[in-house]
Amino acid sequence: MDIKIFDHQQDLDTYAAELFVRLVNEKPEAVLGLATGSTPIGIYDKIIELHRQQDVSFQAVTTFNLDEYVGVSPDNEQSYAYYMQKNLFSHIDIPAGNTHLPDGMAENIDAECARYEEQLQAQPVDMQLLGLGHNGHIGFNEPDVHLSGGTHAVKLSKETREANARFFASLEEVPRYAVTMGVGSILKAKTVVLAVRGADKAKIVKDALTGPITTEVPASLLQTHANVVVLLDREAGRMLD
Ligand code: F6R
Repeated sequence: MDIKIFDHQQDLDTYAAELFVRLVNEKPEAVLGLATGSTPIGIYDKIIELHRQQDVSFQAVTTFNLDEYVGVSPDNEQSYAYYMQKNLFSHIDIPAGNTHLPDGMAENIDAECARYEEQLQAQPVDMQLLGLGHNGHIGFNEPDVHLSGGTHAVKLSKETREANARFFASLEEVPRYAVTMGVGSILKAKTVVLAVRGADKAKIVKDALTGPITTEVPASLLQTHANVVVLLDREAGRMLD
């Protein structure tokens, strides 16, 4: 793993954005795996800035998001589809048809998972952005005795619902289910970029990067991937040697 620790958040965001922009400039039809949550916002801001400076065009790029809540429609501002429009897609020149998120409103969620996984297999991800949950989750792959390989529906853990409650009016409103790429889908990306910020993630960063590889810490499976770039701020990296 290539681990980089940054003193300033802005430098982490710029470094991550430049990784994606460089890839798109080298390979205009690149397939990007994207994440939501608080960590990517500064990275997306920087990508937008680089796009405005005409450093990059996304016209031929395809994107796949990691996950989406079940039962939350794309025009609801809590949905990840809405988040992506607001924080990235509406500010760059990517055609709407090139952006993919699981459809959390699908009548048959299992069929939707199979459809999404099929699309992913047809267009393998070149570079996947990930954040890290406090419990070691990546996407919505929660700690468990076993993990699913492909895209699947999950019941969100209490801890994850509590962590995400900050985006909702109350904990009750946080959806109970989501669709997520599986750890197997994530590990198929040619390059994985894991970005983590904050002292509250220092322990899970240490466990994920240096602890045993275990389904109880889903991010620890990234240790099996040959090409992972880990970007940490000082606080998130403070328990590493
Ligand atoms: C988001 C996702 C999650 C988040 C993780 C960290 O699409 O899949 O795994 O990356 O929960 O979230 P933040 O960045 O809000 O701390």
